[in-house]
Amino acid sequence: MKLIILKDKTEVAQLLSKIIIDIIKVKPNAILGLATGSSPIETYDLLIADAKNNKRDWSKVVTFNLDEYVGLTPDHVKSYRYFMNHQLFNHIKSLNLKNTYVPKGIGDLDQNVEEYEKLLKEKGPIDLQILGLGTNGHIAFNEPGTLASSKTHVVNLTKETIEANKRFFSKVEDVPTKAVTMGIHTILQAKLIVLIATGTNKAQAIRELVEGKVSPNYPCTFLQNHDDVTIIIDEEAATLLKPTISKKN
Ligand code: GLP
Repeated sequence: MKLIILKDKTEVAQLLSKIIIDIIKVKPNAILGLATGSSPIETYDLLIADAKNNKRDWSKVVTFNLDEYVGLTPDHVKSYRYFMNHQLFNHIKSLNLKNTYVPKGIGDLDQNVEEYEKLLKEKGPIDLQILGLGTNGHIAFNEPGTLASSKTHVVNLTKETIEANKRFFSKVEDVPTKAVTMGIHTILQAKLIVLIATGTNKAQAIRELVEGKVSPNYPCTFLQNHDDVTIIIDEEAATLLKPTISKKN
């Protein structure tokens, strides 16, 4: 794993957007694995600006999102499909919405997860998978206890995740209690993985990811089993790392 510690979340977004743009330059039909949450928003703003200012061609780019809440229709303002359309997709003119995939959280969920895995197999592997990080160490919605062998599946969200995500809803009761998520095995199929995390509330999970043993207690630690992972964090998220590790970077 490669660890990069930067000053703040703006520098993290600048580096991540550059990595994404460089991949599209080399491979115009790149397959990107995208994430939701507050972490990638600044990165998406920079991608939108680049697409406008530099006429970047996204027409052949294919995207796969990590997860979706169960029970929210794609047009629900709190759904991850809505988030992606509004934070990124709708602002990139050359992007074809038909090339963007987000797991479906309504209808026959067993069928949905199977179809998503099938689609990923047909179109994949993902060239670059972007990940955020839950305060409890989850990646996508793979909560503590998730197995390394997991594929796209339905999960019960933990109390901690529901608490952490209530900021996006008017009240905690509105936060869905289940989600559909790519599994750990699914995520690890990507050729390259970049995880971003900023702020002190991510420091504990970052310590486990960087210094801890591989364990389902912190699903992010499964990334240690992949041979091309870059972790980009800010100084705040690095506060619990041993000085020897944070100084090396
Ligand atoms: C949600 C998403 C994750 C995301 C995490 C962190 O739970 N399912 O994919 O990484 O939130 O969110 P934030 O970036 O807002 O801290």
